[in-house]
Amino acid sequence: MSDSSFPQQRLRRLRRGQRLRDAVADVGLSADRLIYPLFVGEMREAKPVASMPGVKQLPVDAAVNTMRDLIKQGVQQFILFGVTADEHKDAHGSFAASPDAPVNRTLRAAREAGLDAVLYADLCFCEYTEHGHCGALLDTSTPTGAVWTVDNDRTLALLGQTAVAQAEAGADVVAPSGMMDGQVAAIRQALDAAGHEHAAILSYAIKYASSFYGPFREAGGGGMQFGDRRGYQMDYRRSREWQSELHADLAEGADMVMVKPAMAYLDIVQQVRSSCDVPVAAYHVSGEYAMLHAAAERGWLDLEQAALESTYAIRRAGADLVVTYFAPQLAMWV
Ligand code: PBG
Repeated sequence: MSDSSFPQQRLRRLRRGQRLRDAVADVGLSADRLIYPLFVGEMREAKPVASMPGVKQLPVDAAVNTMRDLIKQGVQQFILFGVTADEHKDAHGSFAASPDAPVNRTLRAAREAGLDAVLYADLCFCEYTEHGHCGALLDTSTPTGAVWTVDNDRTLALLGQTAVAQAEAGADVVAPSGMMDGQVAAIRQALDAAGHEHAAILSYAIKYASSFYGPFREAGGGGMQFGDRRGYQMDYRRSREWQSELHADLAEGADMVMVKPAMAYLDIVQQVRSSCDVPVAAYHVSGEYAMLHAAAERGWLDLEQAALESTYAIRRAGADLVVTYFAPQLAMWV
């Protein structure tokens, strides 16, 4: 056999054995990169979310205990979503800014307990409005029919007030997810005017109208009475619009930006990462979590392997931070 019959390159050499594979891996994943979403509400007992195995809606004290336990396991960042009782919902979601809102109570309790964690407050009204949309509504009816849309500029003022309440309660970072134009500037201005110049903004700058948010609507006790969110969230058929969203939010003062969902949008994560120098987060959303669980339950894939592969893929695309419901398990697996 002549020399030329041997392969020129043997890429398999560095794949021999776990130690060697670990040594040459260049994408890392550790618990300090993960942000764990928590759903806090006024219920007395923790309530499992059927479509998201392992995820529960939690009363305030249970949420604080959950964070305390997870911090010991290395998860040190949490994003809080509110579950609002019907009697506290109204047309513009004003309860979000109340010091009694479960998110704000949890923030205060976590600070009083001295938890050493980065606390993010989700800043949106869909969990607080009776109609389930992400802001106050505006009637733009035409003679041909009723057309309700979210009133952008009125929602901006409400976002500012709510951000101040969240910073007051102890949020390190507020995370506006409603896709209102000008929201980062409005929130920055309100925070600064109230003396919260240190509160940071993680903007869900690039958020697509996605079917993968399905299970979240159960988890957050939301869901819309009518319509959908395509009038404010992005259309996945547009491949370049993210640049305008990113640049607007950076110009308005976003400290970090988020791409959402993650798995179906890795191309966007990668492009955003190379187009800015602020930290980039990607949200591995409820539907992406649920479908891995559903397949694993049927024995169609291995949950641990699939969750690790998915999270590494999100990191490899360029996300510095990953918001994921797998955070507690990933902290054990990595
Ligand atoms: C609310 C909000 C949603 C999610 C996070 N914030 C739902 C939506 O926009 O419809 C989805 C998170 C997930 O699916 O895990 N604005």
